[in-house]
Amino acid sequence: MKAIVYKKFGPPDVLHLEEMEKPIPADNEILIRIHAASVNFGDLMARNFKAISMREFNMPGILWLLAKISLGFNQPKFPIPGSEFSGEVESVGRDVHTFKKGDQVFGFSSQSFGTYAEYLCLPANGVLAPKPTNMTYEEAAVVPYGAIMALNLLRKANIQPGQKVLVNGASGGIGSAAVQIARHLGADVTGVCSTPRLQFVKSLGATRVIDYTKEDFTQNGETYDLIVDILGKGSFSRLKGSLKPAGILLYASFKMKQLLQMLWTSLMGGRKVICAIAPGSAEDLLAVKELIEAGKIKAVIDRRYPLEQIAAAHQYVETGHKKSSVVITV
Ligand SMILES: NC(=O)c1ccc[n+]([C@@H]2O[C@H](COP(=O)([O-])OP(=O)(O)OC[C@H]3O[C@@H](n4cnc5c(N)ncnc54)[C@H](OP(=O)(O)O)[C@@H]3O)[C@@H](O)[C@H]2O)c1
Repeated sequence: MKAIVYKKFGPPDVLHLEEMEKPIPADNEILIRIHAASVNFGDLMARNFKAISMREFNMPGILWLLAKISLGFNQPKFPIPGSEFSGEVESVGRDVHTFKKGDQVFGFSSQSFGTYAEYLCLPANGVLAPKPTNMTYEEAAVVPYGAIMALNLLRKANIQPGQKVLVNGASGGIGSAAVQIARHLGADVTGVCSTPRLQFVKSLGATRVIDYTKEDFTQNGETYDLIVDILGKGSFSRLKGSLKPAGILLYASFKMKQLLQMLWTSLMGGRKVICAIAPGSAEDLLAVKELIEAGKIKAVIDRRYPLEQIAAAHQYVETGHKKSSVVITV
């Protein structure tokens, strides 16, 4: 099969097309013929992880160390990158009864990667589900990561209809799903992003969009029941003036300081900090599929690249100019 491999960490040009053995599914696995994959934040990070110091990593040091152990210290442990996919079941292991040949599926291979290839083997109980009936393969491949993370994170905040929610980082993989899910839960959503993505975030259902290159949302006098900070850009001391008296600041990216603030604010009344890690699960992906089929989550594709041009796709995403999702067609 054709696959993209990388033998060392580094810039996009470490990614090369190679011929590899087609994988054979174990008894508990399914073999998927990949139709489409994506380029998300985690894919960029995994490709270049050696260059990312503990300080630069958007999470506590212990998670950086665990990521190093999982991804490899000096060279990548998993030769084929890519983590989101859609495709068709080609065959199943003999213990698999939940999927059959010909099923259309989508999913997230997480830290076992391997989706930049013609074929992928995954345990049948991995993060995969039937492809939403109202999405193409390309659309379905760009949704799983952001949507399952956002769904998981927002559960921690228990959003109520009519609440005011601000998503800082609203144009990214997780943020764009968070805008749509918060809106589905009945919230009045404000999205914060840069100028080229204002229209995209508005199209996701945000009532208001704020361009952070032109306006500091902490200075406009508005207050929110929930602020979701995807990149952990704002400190609690800066953002708490924008929270209602019982408001929540939900961090998707955080360091030890924010963890201590979570502990401290959980003991006190008033505004709370929540730092959350979102493990992906097949149940969450099934919930995402239902939201997609109910028209609550959509996929917007900015550019398409064939598998052979994966380096160009990574380069484009890395420039920070992508407007929505970038899909890889296999
Ligand atoms: N908690 C968890 O379980 C979990 C799981 C996965 C990932 N993460 C974390 O989530 C983050 C990645 O999120 P993602 O996948 O959504 O990334 P992404 O797709 O790269 O999106 C990040 C977005 O942030 C925006 N941004 C950049 N600078 C900003 C600023 N100063 N203010 C507001 N927005 C800004 C960017 O768009 P604009 O140019 O439009 O602003 C970009 O679209 C990482 O920090 C990662 O560690 C957490």
